[in-house]
Amino acid sequence: MNRQPHIVVVGSANVDLTTFTDHFPRPGETIFGRAFHLGFGGKGANQAVAARLCGARVSMVARVGDDLFGPATIQNFAASGIDARHVLITPGASSGVAPIFVDSSGQNRIIVVKGANDRLLPADVDAAADLLRSADCIVLQLEIPLETVYYTLRFARRHGIPSILNPAPGQALSLGELAFADYVIPNETEAEALGGMPVRNPDEARACALALLSGGLARVIVTLGANGALCAGPEGCRHVAPFAVEPVDTTGAGDAFIGSFAFFLASGCKEGEAISRANVYAALSTLAAGTQSSFVTMERFEAAWAGRG
Ligand code: RIB
Repeated sequence: MNRQPHIVVVGSANVDLTTFTDHFPRPGETIFGRAFHLGFGGKGANQAVAARLCGARVSMVARVGDDLFGPATIQNFAASGIDARHVLITPGASSGVAPIFVDSSGQNRIIVVKGANDRLLPADVDAAADLLRSADCIVLQLEIPLETVYYTLRFARRHGIPSILNPAPGQALSLGELAFADYVIPNETEAEALGGMPVRNPDEARACALALLSGGLARVIVTLGANGALCAGPEGCRHVAPFAVEPVDTTGAGDAFIGSFAFFLASGCKEGEAISRANVYAALSTLAAGTQSSFVTMERFEAAWAGRG
């Protein structure tokens, strides 16, 4: 790793309202939660914060609402050292919010209300064109309109800028449009939605990744949680081992993986090492509650990386 890369995230910013509970309620049931946490989230913003904590120069292209959360979100970007010149307050729109429920095993269930994220349009990408052209890597997710995602992927390819798409939340997509991404990085459920086949273990992830490559995708990394990650390209597939931890809250771990992977790769790490490092960075984020608030510093990461088995 030898330089500070510039990473531009075109994506979402939410406020996360997280309730910790022993179990999830059944339909019609009312239960008590153990604790509540209000924090900054959104897959785009989370990935931006992770890349920044790793050491990248980071810029964000996003839209927030004209409510209490909008200015607070912009302030959070500034406090994190992220360039938010292209984060716009959208008159008449609410900010994106995400009620999140975390059970005692650390697993989460999330409902995203997109609000202003849904108003981030290709015209906003054009307005940020100079910034995007200066990027070493452009990172995208699916909490903004699909037309904006596809438009940005084509922009990145046209200008020779590497791009990473995290196809989350999972949905069926045009593989023809995703072929413009250098990396597509789903988790198991997102891979299922993309490939239209079950992905419950590394073998099924391999079959799905190979099908997605046949559909035209350039490179696919399926993140497998406690099972590590599966990386597939024209040369074949390889499994990258996990970093074992006892999770407290897995919310945002996928975002920690994407943001840190973008940083490690753009800093000059070989792909396999970038994935191993991102596995460790993501695992460390599950040891504390919250999304961005659980992401660790480079010092904490380096200690874990040096001490891994
Ligand atoms: O990936 C976790 C994120 O998903 C949360 O921060 C929430 O806002 C949703 O976007």
